[in-house]
Amino acid sequence: MAKILFLASIMLLSFYLTEQTIISDVGTIMLEVGENVDKNARNPRYVLDTKVHKEFDARKRWPKCKTIGEVLNDGNNLYSWAYANAAIFSDRKCIATNGVFNQFLSTEELISCSGIKAIENGISKGGVDQLRVWEYFKSHGLVSGGKYNTDDGCQPSKILPIGNLPTTLYKPECKNRCYGNKTIDYNHDHSKVSHKYKISYEDIQKEVQNYGPVSVQFFLYYDFYLYRNGVYSKTENSKFVRWQYAKLIGWGVENGVDYWLLVNSWGKEWGQNGLFKIKRGTNECSIETAIYAGEPERK
Ligand SMILES: *[C@@H]1O[C@H](CO)[C@@H](O)[C@H](O)[C@H]1NC(C)=O
Repeated sequence: MAKILFLASIMLLSFYLTEQTIISDVGTIMLEVGENVDKNARNPRYVLDTKVHKEFDARKRWPKCKTIGEVLNDGNNLYSWAYANAAIFSDRKCIATNGVFNQFLSTEELISCSGIKAIENGISKGGVDQLRVWEYFKSHGLVSGGKYNTDDGCQPSKILPIGNLPTTLYKPECKNRCYGNKTIDYNHDHSKVSHKYKISYEDIQKEVQNYGPVSVQFFLYYDFYLYRNGVYSKTENSKFVRWQYAKLIGWGVENGVDYWLLVNSWGKEWGQNGLFKIKRGTNECSIETAIYAGEPERK
């Protein structure tokens, strides 16, 4: 019952949102700004594994880092870009510090303070320039911040999870202090990256198995809401909703079909406990074209 209500609520909400903004031709998708920015001087602390594994799951490779497999809930708003990118930054910092840092960085600070906003209409709906996100991680950094309705970290999420009736409207409001765990010093809590880059299709696997999960964007179609298991590929006439972002944590082969393994941000009720598999190697829903990551600062 909870599951049906949940599905009904995400589908109705998206239907409402799409009807509000009739998909029109706003021209090309302006998401590819800048290429391979400062991808050099990698930290020698990483032990490089250049042979691509047939199957890979970052949760098993770095079992100490609990954020890798944790499923967040973006409220089915236009904020999955923030959830995916902040989460992979958290995972990568955990991997880089060998588990000393082991918590989420704040989606809330990213959404409310960076000034970055998803495009609201047309074919680019839901899209952001991910290099701007990583530029923000580099110049400003991100404080810690856990899930909705917790006091975990400096600035925990304020976005109501999917399926909850709104009690207040979410209004991003930038705060220069810690409102979650108030004993944390806001100014000293920021984590930064030393560099950021776009990853080409050929480099995805090596990147993930050596440095941790990456953030991907893909076209979200209606049939994706109904995904439960198996390897997703779009059904012929499914309607476009918007861009969606998710965290790519691995890959494998199922019944002869190559797939990517990803963590979505629609809670654990959706998909395979919040995760999904999508066809790999054919640029399904454009998922192999705009992939980003960065390297946490050495400290
Ligand atoms: C709050 O943060 C402090 C400093 O990082 C930490 O020692 C403490 O355990 C945290 N408290 C809670 C309840 O998480």
